[in-house]
Amino acid sequence: MCISNRLPVDRVIADDGTAQWKTSPGGLVTAMEPVMREQGGAWVGWPGVADEDVEPFSDGTIDIYPVALSEEEVQDFYEGFSNDTIWPLYHDVIAPPAYHREWWVAYQRVNQRFAEAAAAISANGATVWVHDYQLQLVPRILRSIRPDLTIGYFNHIPFPAYGIFSQLPWRKQIINGVLGADVIGFQRPADAGNFQRSVRRLLGYETKSARVLEPQSDGSFRPIVAKSFPISIDSAGFERLARQPEVQARAKEIRSQLGEEKTIILGVDRLDYTKGIRHRLKAYGELLEDGRLSVENTTLVQVASPSRERVETYRQLRDEIELTVGRLNGDFGSIADTAVHYLHHGYPREEMAALYLAADVMLVTALRDGMNLVAKEYAATRFDRRGVLVLSEFAGASDELKQALLINPHDIEGLKDAIVQAVTMPVSEQEKRMRSLRRRVAEYDVARWSRSFLNALEESHARRLVAEAANEGAES
Ligand code: F6P
Repeated sequence: MCISNRLPVDRVIADDGTAQWKTSPGGLVTAMEPVMREQGGAWVGWPGVADEDVEPFSDGTIDIYPVALSEEEVQDFYEGFSNDTIWPLYHDVIAPPAYHREWWVAYQRVNQRFAEAAAAISANGATVWVHDYQLQLVPRILRSIRPDLTIGYFNHIPFPAYGIFSQLPWRKQIINGVLGADVIGFQRPADAGNFQRSVRRLLGYETKSARVLEPQSDGSFRPIVAKSFPISIDSAGFERLARQPEVQARAKEIRSQLGEEKTIILGVDRLDYTKGIRHRLKAYGELLEDGRLSVENTTLVQVASPSRERVETYRQLRDEIELTVGRLNGDFGSIADTAVHYLHHGYPREEMAALYLAADVMLVTALRDGMNLVAKEYAATRFDRRGVLVLSEFAGASDELKQALLINPHDIEGLKDAIVQAVTMPVSEQEKRMRSLRRRVAEYDVARWSRSFLNALEESHARRLVAEAANEGAES
């Protein structure tokens, strides 16, 4: 069973009051949906709108169990504590986190509700996989209600260094909540190291390589695995999509609409301040200004899918980005040529695959990012081995995708040079680099990621059975 704040589908209420379901945004759903489709099972989560009581239903092989949130809980738990406290804190305080006690109260209440919903439908001895920063208290609550369960927790976003994490007024409760799991997964080894350090500093527990030892009342220790399991995508599925004749035809159409001879530079992100969209626009604007690029032979397509639109930092970001795009187009565009094609929409996978195929250069300039699956999607799609990935070293994907052009997005000069290098890269070098990126993404796909996490959970379950049997033996 899988529990995440969002279900794989969001309920959307149209203006005429009719309700529909559409695919939810974000990396978590991109990764987990194919895993759940393949394995089947229950998915507990919020349907994405306030005050909607939706009955459980089946979506193919997945049994969906919606958890309702009131309008006030959406504000305090989701927009507040999850996305205005934890999100900026865990992304190295790129934006200042806000700490409000009433948000914390809502976070505890909603985590309790998710845990109770999962406890109510889990079979005896079942495995439950809890996802992400919105639900960090769920593992501990679930363990206390249902000690028979094997519990995994995966943190999809970075885990910050202790000096930053320790700002959180409820730091001990959060750490203790996560430690209710048997296996705790992180994107990068550095995230797992940061978490272990917080455990040592805040709770004084001992850690041994990938294990945290939690002292029990009988003097024994419960070992908890805490290590990195870098997430991935359904690589073969993306390639299959890219090979579809309709997708290729659409890619050709995009190219001809943007200008056959032009170099197409692409950015695809949720409209989030962690993604470094401002830095990217700055670098691109300066390249146009310096004359190193021109709108006659390049264009930037920026897909910025709407996200968390009622949170003030996100509103401000949108205003800034749209102002900058307007300026760039005003200053550099002509009747014939547009500097930046800015698209404030989410698109279906088919359209994304076509865009990836059409793009000569893919820009991933995140200031901090747990993994960044867009980088992996781009490589998986390019079965023609063309295209160049410019990738921030602050995205988890940079640990694996070494043949991308790795950049520090804060270094605008370095970013500009990398963009020019990408635009002018000879085909033979593109192929060499893309082959290596594709090999990595094909080998380490999402099935392998989930298998390795679930294997770790199984091993932990087996160890527990052995320990219990030994205890019983000692007592009799
Ligand atoms: O992977 C990070 C993540 O925050 C997920 O937890 C989340 O579902 C997704 O990105 C999109 O964010 P949101 O659910 O706030 O729209």
